[in-house]
Amino acid sequence: MRNLIVAGNWKMNNTLSESKKLVSEIIKKFQEYNSDGSLNNVKVILAPPFPMLPIVSEQIEGTSLLLSAQNCSNKAKGAYTGEVSVDMLISCGCQSVIIGHSERRQYYGETDEILKEKVDLSIHSSLDVIFCVGETQDERQADQHFEVIQRQLEKALFHLSDSEFAKVIVAYEPVWAIGTGLTATPEQAQEIHHFIRGLVEKKYGVEMANNLHILYGGSCKPSNSKDLFALEDVDGGLIGGAALDADQFVDIIRTQNR
Ligand code: PGA
Repeated sequence: MRNLIVAGNWKMNNTLSESKKLVSEIIKKFQEYNSDGSLNNVKVILAPPFPMLPIVSEQIEGTSLLLSAQNCSNKAKGAYTGEVSVDMLISCGCQSVIIGHSERRQYYGETDEILKEKVDLSIHSSLDVIFCVGETQDERQADQHFEVIQRQLEKALFHLSDSEFAKVIVAYEPVWAIGTGLTATPEQAQEIHHFIRGLVEKKYGVEMANNLHILYGGSCKPSNSKDLFALEDVDGGLIGGAALDADQFVDIIRTQNR
């Protein structure tokens, strides 16, 4: 059985002091609720902005919490002003990196080709990849959501070998549900998650498909996480807004125990 993964994507929020405070609150509440070990099977990942990574890494040392970056460069190193390399992320304590978030695709022009380069650099340098896919409102209305998601997966991931693909977590984030308060209905989420697992099965076989974690993202909060995480093909969440509040974030982590 796949364990639950809850990842908090802070996006461009929290100064250094706010970040330290949030992490201590999350650790405190998480440990309180996990005093009986009932949350040991939930993998919790924090994805703060770049400058906070070394500090958050120190704060979570000795806990079961894991660290992810929100992005990485598609270049390995060198004269690329403003970029942050995969090796830098690893040296700051990251175990994973989010790649292909719709905000990167939409606002920073990240194409399938660029994302493929980022995926390759990350996987070859031992970072796990949380790869985001999702359709826009217009694409869903035009009934193109299946083909968009298939394209996003095929172009940036499906060249990976079996052992490389085993390091990928997929996050389905319908763009129309991100930060909007709209959430995919359980039926819509399950339909896409099942579709994604089916594509992975065709390409990599049943075992890989069964082991793949597929997270849901898009206005996921304590009030809807129970219904979403109960779905057969939903293995947790990539949380934006609700990850900025320790109570809400830990409540989502506790979903199965609530
Ligand atoms: P949201 O963001 O929870 O604020 O909708 C999710 C995400 O973009 O990862």
